[in-house]
Amino acid sequence: MTQTIGVLGAGTWGMALARMLAVQGHRVTVWSALPHEVDQLAAERVHPNLPDMVIPADIIFTKNIEEVCRGQAVLVFAVPSPYVRATAAAARPFIPDGQIIVDVAKGIEADTLYTMTEVIRDELQRDGGCRNVKLVALSGPTHAEEVARDLPTTIVSAATDLSVAQTVQSLFMNTCMRVYTNVDILGVELCGAVKNILALAAGISVGLGYGDNAKAAIITRGMAELTRLGLAMGCMEQTFSGLAGMGDLIVTATSRHSRNNRCGQLIGSGVRPADAIAAVGMVVEGIHAIPAALKLARRYGVEMPIVEAVDSVVSGGADPAEAVRELMSRGAKDELTTTPYDVNFENNHLCDGRRNGMKRVITYGTFDLLHYGHINLLRRARALGDYLVVALSTDEFNRDEKNKTCYFTYEQRKMLLEAMRYVDLVIPESDWDQKRRDVHEYHIDTFVMGDDWKGKFDFLKEEGVEVVYLPRTPEVSTTEIKQDLAK
Ligand code: CTP
Repeated sequence: MTQTIGVLGAGTWGMALARMLAVQGHRVTVWSALPHEVDQLAAERVHPNLPDMVIPADIIFTKNIEEVCRGQAVLVFAVPSPYVRATAAAARPFIPDGQIIVDVAKGIEADTLYTMTEVIRDELQRDGGCRNVKLVALSGPTHAEEVARDLPTTIVSAATDLSVAQTVQSLFMNTCMRVYTNVDILGVELCGAVKNILALAAGISVGLGYGDNAKAAIITRGMAELTRLGLAMGCMEQTFSGLAGMGDLIVTATSRHSRNNRCGQLIGSGVRPADAIAAVGMVVEGIHAIPAALKLARRYGVEMPIVEAVDSVVSGGADPAEAVRELMSRGAKDELTTTPYDVNFENNHLCDGRRNGMKRVITYGTFDLLHYGHINLLRRARALGDYLVVALSTDEFNRDEKNKTCYFTYEQRKMLLEAMRYVDLVIPESDWDQKRRDVHEYHIDTFVMGDDWKGKFDFLKEEGVEVVYLPRTPEVSTTEIKQDLAK
């Protein structure tokens, strides 16, 4: 079915997608903030960075952002990450409620630590703007140069709402592009941003004259540190070995088309970082992503030695060869992060359980100053099945979203819960939207909360999960304990 699509941004990726969609029979309008770019593309029908791609005559170009936003089934944000917020601000008055917006820029905003879809949502909500836009991140190993030539390509359509991800999947899917869905949008966007830094590292290593061994090491150990961060943030492990994760890292770290890789090679061969960026001539996303990745690593207490080494070279003026020597002389490590004993135990437990129809239950909470109300809740939750997962609110989530300051830290609260015989697994709760993902990742049958949350999570029934609200134990709560002790 023909759809109307607005593309904001006329760079190489925006134009490669615009052409692909137009060739599929969709009505495509492209907007650019640069008037001369609009004039040139409309007149010459060739993009300077994609000289072999003919731009179909029926693609409409406009300098008017209202024209690109109004009346479109889908809007595609295809501006470089540093311009996403300003573009959303300019588009805000013209974007209708419920609009599906696909973001293809990869990055994390350094001061807010928002991913690009979070930046778009945040900016569109300002001044009473639209609140219910449906955001999708489209990401994967997709060089514009190859999509422009209709070479086979795969990509991920990620959204917390699977049905929205599926709508975008069917719009972008064709014989040259195969689209997979993924509800772990945070994981997909995190991969998209951090892999650019790892591609810089791979480029630096080539520039230094190192070989394929070093490149493979950067790709593999880089993915290990990216996965570590993602898991601490509540993302799903499979995303990191998927197309937006390992897939995109391989292509960016090895392809001649990658600007990050090219910029890294120049730096590794001795060119000053500022000159290398200027020589590449386009936005080098990896450079912009470094401060945000380092802040996230600190916030979640995760080590990211390769990202730190790239930072020391790019921003700290360190000698690339010295940075590599430091990486090589770090303390000896184990590649496995869980012991074989843990893995076997978990696997056997799961397999046995599955065979016998094990029922898995999940609950969420802060569980500070563990009290008998909590124990009652956990005992009854566990009794509803055979395996209980507790998603424990992180200190940041308590502070930023629940307005709670805990007496015990996340690690201390986790230790207390893990010592309890009703609890089988403790995972972090770091955002309100993770529940839909968790119930799938942890194969949950029953979702349980105290009845102070009655009705609030009924939407999980759509995911095929039973939702149960258990009566609270009267007269005890962490807040009251704190107040009583303060008297
Ligand atoms: N809970 C319960 N009975 C109580 C207190 C808590 O069943 N007397 C349940 C809550 O409904 C929730 C879980 O325990 O499902 C974790 O609650 P949490 O908010 O951590 O505990 P509170 O003691 O309610 O904490 P606060 O006073 O800080 O809100």
